[in-house]
Amino acid sequence: MPSRAHDPKAFRAALGSFATGVTVITACSGDGTPVGLTANSFNSVSLDPPMVLWSLAKTSRSLPVFMDTEHWAVHVLAAEQHGLSDVFARAGEDKFAGLEVVAAAGSGVPLLEGCAARFECRTSFRYEGGDHVIIVGEVTAFERSSRSPLVFHAGRYARATEHDRSLPQARSARIAGGLNDDMLGYLLGRAHYQSHAGLRELVREQGLSEAQWIVIAALTVQDGVTAASLDAALSYVLDTPCEPILYALLAQGWIAIAGSAGGPPLYRLSESGRMRSVHLLAAAKSRESDLLARMEGDDGLLLKALLRKFITSTNPGLADLWPAEQGQV
Ligand SMILES: Cc1cc2nc3c(=O)[nH]c(=O)nc-3n(C[C@H](O)[C@H](O)[C@H](O)COP(=O)(O)O)c2cc1C
Repeated sequence: MPSRAHDPKAFRAALGSFATGVTVITACSGDGTPVGLTANSFNSVSLDPPMVLWSLAKTSRSLPVFMDTEHWAVHVLAAEQHGLSDVFARAGEDKFAGLEVVAAAGSGVPLLEGCAARFECRTSFRYEGGDHVIIVGEVTAFERSSRSPLVFHAGRYARATEHDRSLPQARSARIAGGLNDDMLGYLLGRAHYQSHAGLRELVREQGLSEAQWIVIAALTVQDGVTAASLDAALSYVLDTPCEPILYALLAQGWIAIAGSAGGPPLYRLSESGRMRSVHLLAAAKSRESDLLARMEGDDGLLLKALLRKFITSTNPGLADLWPAEQGQV
């Protein structure tokens, strides 16, 4: 059912279906004060001469500056710069406080660092556009980096990922008689197996079983814990109690008893256990970097973000293994 064109909320929502990048557009007022705002109305106009446009709300506090100055710069934000977008979208702040800013030669336009691309422009035309002014400019200089861009879609920030046409279509809806390779369990299990392949061998070389390594890895962030608390923390990954594993690790010198405080024994890594586990964790991190480097652009970051989202949304009530302030291993 079509919405009426004069329903501003519906109109705004419909416009939000058009995914855009996010820019910060900066200029310098006559008295040298830097101004800037977040804008996603930026677009290309012409290749020869090189021209771009964007539209500025007539309510914007920067309007007098952009109506006066001929010079401005468009910063196409990188995916990690959503904080910068938030800062420049707020009114009434010193938006440039704490930022690394360089003044453009000649015009003095404030230039920001770390963007996906940057265009220095000179105003060619200004047009009335309802409650906005459309500003068209000629590009006088530009720079580009390999950083992937920040995306804005349906009122939210997003990341750009390539639509990989070589991947098979999702087939979850197909009625299958047995396990099929589109099932989430299969995908997660296989991804886990493949991502651990190299490390598994190193763990074995150290004379450890996988379960023993899991307990050791947990002890690298939680020193002085009881077998029961390890059982609770590792219930999602170990299907046997930790106590026999702890006894074996004690016998092998990987761990020691930190005390008991009148209760059950508290376990910690021994000195040599800590050194050997640091070596294994470094190998795991290096293996992770190798694997992520094989993925396109930001796909590795996206994969982690989606897995975290999935873990949170499906959590049946498991405690976090790692206390927030200690970060993840
Ligand atoms: C993702 C995003 C895109 C925006 N795009 C525009 C735009 O194209 N034009 C505009 O005038 N304001 C846009 N805004 C709003 C301005 O950034 C915001 O009103 C800002 O406070 C204006 O700053 P100023 O009043 O200091 O000029 C956008 C905000 C966000 C978060």
